[in-house]
Amino acid sequence: MKPIGTPLSPHATRVMLLGSGELGKEVLIALQRLGVETIAVDRYDNAPGQQVAHHARTITMSDGAALRALIEAERPDLVVPEIEAIATPVLEALEAEGQIRCIPTARAARLTMDREGIRRLAAETLGLPTSPYRFCDSLAELQAAIDAGIGYPCIVKPVMSSSGKGQSKIDGPADVQTAWDYAMAGGRVGPGRVIVEGFIDFDYEITQLTVRALGADGSVETSFCDPIGHVQVSGDYVESWQPHPMHPAALQRSREIAKAVTDNLGVGLDGQPSGLGLFGVELFVKGENVWFSEVSPRPHDTGMVTMITQWQNEFELHARAILGLPVDTTLKSPGASAVIYGGVEATGIVFDGVADAMRVPNSDIRLFGKPESFVKRRMGVALVHDADVERARAQAKLAASLVKPRKA
Ligand SMILES: Nc1ncnc2c1ncn2[C@@H]1O[C@H](COP(=O)(O)OP(=O)(O)O)[C@@H](O)[C@H]1O
Ligand SMILES: [Mg+2]
Repeated sequence: MKPIGTPLSPHATRVMLLGSGELGKEVLIALQRLGVETIAVDRYDNAPGQQVAHHARTITMSDGAALRALIEAERPDLVVPEIEAIATPVLEALEAEGQIRCIPTARAARLTMDREGIRRLAAETLGLPTSPYRFCDSLAELQAAIDAGIGYPCIVKPVMSSSGKGQSKIDGPADVQTAWDYAMAGGRVGPGRVIVEGFIDFDYEITQLTVRALGADGSVETSFCDPIGHVQVSGDYVESWQPHPMHPAALQRSREIAKAVTDNLGVGLDGQPSGLGLFGVELFVKGENVWFSEVSPRPHDTGMVTMITQWQNEFELHARAILGLPVDTTLKSPGASAVIYGGVEATGIVFDGVADAMRVPNSDIRLFGKPESFVKRRMGVALVHDADVERARAQAKLAASLVKPRKA
C-alpha cells in the first residue's frame, strides 16, 4: 500500500465516497484527520459529507455512464461505496480493468446492492441460517410463496430498499394485497421484485461490527467490536446501545457467521481475499440460536453509538482499515444512541433545545446538516455514555427528545 501523501498535492492519497450522508460524513472526517484528500459524491447538493470534503460532486450514482466518467476524471486511489443504489457493474468493470480499488471489493458492492445477491450468498452458497424466504415478481407469486410454506406472519420487502422503505409485516391473508402495494410504492427502482421472509420471533437483534484490516505481517486479520443491540420501528433504527449482553454461545455463533460472510465478501474478482474495511452484520438471536439477516460492507447506522463507546469509532475503524492501517476495536464505555427525526417537512430548518439536550449528563449531540427535513428523516443523533447500558438508553432517548427541529 502506498504511503499517505499530502492533500491537494500531486502525491495526495485520494478517496472517493459514493454516498455522502451522515455515515459518509463521519468516514470523511476520519479520513481528513489522516491527511487524505476526499471527494464526496451524492445525488443532491450540500449532502452532509459534501460539507466536510475537499471536493463535492453531484451525480446520479445509479447511472453507469455518469459514474464511470466521474471516476475516470477524478482517478481516486480508493472508491468507497456508502449506499447501495450505485451502478455496481461499472465498479466491477473498473476494478477488473485495474483502474480502481473498491472498498471492500466491487464484488461485495454488487452482491449487497439488493437483498437477493446477499441472501442467496449467505443461505445457498455459505449455508448460513436465515429466515425462510422466496423472491416474487407479482402479487400472485407472493400469495403462492406464502401458501407454499413461508406462512404467516411474514415480512415483505422490496429487493432494492433500505431503512424499512416499502417493508411491512403480513399477519394473515387480508394483508397480502396491502403489503404488495406498499412494497411497489416504496422500492428504490420502479415496479419490481420483493423478498418474502418468514417472521423470526427473535429475543433480540444485534449488529456485529466486523473489521478486515491488515496485521503486522501484511495479511488480512478479522476483528470484532462488542455487539450492538438496537430497536427498529417499521424497519428503521431508532435506538442502539453497546455492549448488548449475550450468552457466550450466541456471541460465538454470531462471530462465526460474521466471519463466514465477511471472509466471502472480502474476496475480489481476482479471487484474492484482499478486501478491507468494516462491515455491519445484522443478526437475530433467540436463546443460543442465531440467524443471519443482512450485512452492510461499510459502517452501519446502528453503529453510530460507537462515536461515544469506542476508542476508535466505526468510521475511524473503516478509514484506518481501508488505508491498510492497524485497528483497535476496544470498548471505551458502555453507551447508547437515539435518533433525532426531522418531525417537519421543510428545507433549512432550525433546532431548538440543543443546549438542553447537551445538559443531559454524559451526552453528545450530532446534527447532520441535511438541507431538507422530512417527518421521518434522520436529522441527528443523541449519544450518551454510562456504566449502565439501560441508563444510557433512557438518557439518550431523553436527550434526543429535547432537540426540537422546526421550520425556520
Ligand atoms: N424475517 C424477519 N423476521 C423478523 N423481523 C424482521 C425480519 N426481517 C426484518 N425484520 C425486522 O425489520 C428490520 C429491518 O429489516 P432489514 O432486512 O434489516 O431491512 P433494511 O435493509 O431496511 O435495514 C430488522 O432489523 C428487523 O427488526
Ligand atoms: Mg437492516
